[in-house]
Amino acid sequence: MLQKSAALRHYRDKALNTGYLFFYSKTLMTAAKLDVFDHIGTGSKTSNEMAQATGTSEHGIELLLDALAGMGYINKKGRRYANTRHGREIFLKGKELYIGDILDFHEAMWEGWNHLEESVRTGGPAQRHDMFQKEKEETRTFIMAMHNTAMGHAEKLASLVDLGGSKTLLDIGGGSGAYSIFFCKANPRLKATILDLPATLEVTRDVVSRYKMSRKVSLKEGDYNKCLPNGFDVAFLSHIIHSEGEAANTALMKRIYGALNPGGKVIIQDFILKEGRTQPCFASTFALCMLLFTEEGRTYSFGEVKGWLRAAGFKSIEWSRRSLPRDISVVTACRS
Ligand SMILES: C[S@@+](CC[C@H](N)C(=O)[O-])C[C@H]1O[C@@H](n2cnc3c(N)ncnc32)[C@H](O)[C@@H]1O
Repeated sequence: MLQKSAALRHYRDKALNTGYLFFYSKTLMTAAKLDVFDHIGTGSKTSNEMAQATGTSEHGIELLLDALAGMGYINKKGRRYANTRHGREIFLKGKELYIGDILDFHEAMWEGWNHLEESVRTGGPAQRHDMFQKEKEETRTFIMAMHNTAMGHAEKLASLVDLGGSKTLLDIGGGSGAYSIFFCKANPRLKATILDLPATLEVTRDVVSRYKMSRKVSLKEGDYNKCLPNGFDVAFLSHIIHSEGEAANTALMKRIYGALNPGGKVIIQDFILKEGRTQPCFASTFALCMLLFTEEGRTYSFGEVKGWLRAAGFKSIEWSRRSLPRDISVVTACRS
């Protein structure tokens, strides 16, 4: 009776494993919260030493460390635990490829995801937020989390996108400034202006000066839903359209058209869906995250984005998929 096809067994196992995936993410988030990786540091530690360093029980931390070693995020030799060669690059504070801020942000989002059923029932957000602008610490966590993800591929994106000798770029909702920094590094004649909300820009200022790019990258306070400065060769917007509804995005594209010089280009980086809006899977799942945390945001198909761009007057609208993390892709269009 239970002799079912291999395809059914595979499908069933996949569903079972999906149910368990949160074990892994919560383990990693807890390790980050307890500063496990920094406490291990560049040497090695026993579970007893780690219990003292993190203020935890030896039994509990030993199980956590074994699970992390099982996942390959730390090494275990005898009774001692050490960071891996790659772990030292991404889990230790201060490293350029650090991901601890996004792990902290996931921990903060965990609470919201507990309300998914409620959001699906009501069709509205479980938690209203103001783009994390009210509390300084919250703004920093959010923007540095975005910075962690941007650092995964900002340099690669800047090398892939041809700015064709452009001199000015407007980075709309530019966050930490990671993309502007790498666009300017890859295009020596380019200067970038980051338009963002005031609390965000306090964090941006620190990042831009850490990269010694303050002469190339300037900051401007503003609300992209109200007005944009003009006279730019390129407008770049990364992970902006998914926070907004269709009407706001339609209006934003018109505003961007007005902000560009004739012949200018808009570059939109986001989780763009194929028609049918189910794939890529990360993009269709990310729409739920926007249901939870925004008023009208979701992810959009290329057809939808193309419709807004066309209505604004843009031409040569193209969608390029360049194997970026989490199936992020890029839509470009030109102003005549
Ligand atoms: C999801 S983050 C993306 C940051 C950055 N573009 C990136 O991809 O890493 C959204 C950014 O838009 C900014 N933002 C949100 N609403 C805005 C508004 N109405 N006007 C200007 N900036 C806004 C936020 O402060 C934040 O920096």
